[in-house]
Amino acid sequence: MWCLRYPSLPVIVVLEKRSFSIDSKDECSFCNIGISDLSKGPPYAVGILVLGSIIDATFSSVEDLPSEMAESLFYRRNDSHRMIKIAPSILSADFSRLGEEVRRLGPMGADWVHVDVMDGNFVPNITIGPGVVKAIRQYSDLPFDVHLMILRPEEYLERFAEAGADFITIHVEACQGVGETLQIIRDLGKRPGLSLNPSTPFSEVAPFMDNLDLLLIMTVNPGFGGQSFMHEVVPKIREAREHVDENGLDMEIAIDGGINAETGKIAVEAGATVLDAGSSLFGAEDMAAEMAKWKLF
Ligand code: DX5
Ligand code: ZN
Repeated sequence: MWCLRYPSLPVIVVLEKRSFSIDSKDECSFCNIGISDLSKGPPYAVGILVLGSIIDATFSSVEDLPSEMAESLFYRRNDSHRMIKIAPSILSADFSRLGEEVRRLGPMGADWVHVDVMDGNFVPNITIGPGVVKAIRQYSDLPFDVHLMILRPEEYLERFAEAGADFITIHVEACQGVGETLQIIRDLGKRPGLSLNPSTPFSEVAPFMDNLDLLLIMTVNPGFGGQSFMHEVVPKIREAREHVDENGLDMEIAIDGGINAETGKIAVEAGATVLDAGSSLFGAEDMAAEMAKWKLF
């Protein structure tokens, strides 16, 4: 768990199958531990996460990790080779200093910034609009994952696109022409996402899966942070994962609501690739350490 050379820094080794070739001169650019014996086995990339920044080093297999590194680092091999992404939900950030809150997410290891947009109609709460998204956009290079919990999202797509959203996720329950709206998001050069409430069956979103970059499965009723994960939604996560795998779809399955170290693991085991979380991350004593732990699910 700790860097060999800099023992106070948390380090995680994550394995992911990649097709690029390995340079035998590669070394961990942080520890400068050289890598030898790269001739056998399939290529794997090893990302070493040091305080949030990925430093690439490559090994031909887990077994080829230099022993001193293998002994001192905790590593895992994800059989499905899925990388877990973490998207802190700024709904739980300190709104009085939102820019600073967004700025610190990348260096702490976040992959995306999850932005919850609520209209007081689709959900009983009002949060932020395109103006705020635009204002905080300059504070981070991370992808902005904008979760629209609003009625008639089609009327606001352009504004969120201009404000700097990367993913724009609409709710299947909030929109009349779902397929058309997803296509508009794509035509705007953005990545379309579709979300569904805990009580909405997977069959409602299944017809749109072919044109999605992100399926966002709610594990609480949308509207507020700090609610408890609804375990009864887990079979739906599995159903979505099976659909994605059986159809060879290239997309993310995100889970949103009540995610913490325990429920996040359950979601990942059921097939999630993105964990959206507000209160457990912003309320953590050490958010970077918490996210580092989650990357090992
Ligand atoms: C809920 C929002 C969530 C929320 C999650 O309606 O969509 O993204 O911020 O908050 P926690 O992680 O506290 O359940
Ligand atoms: Zn959300």
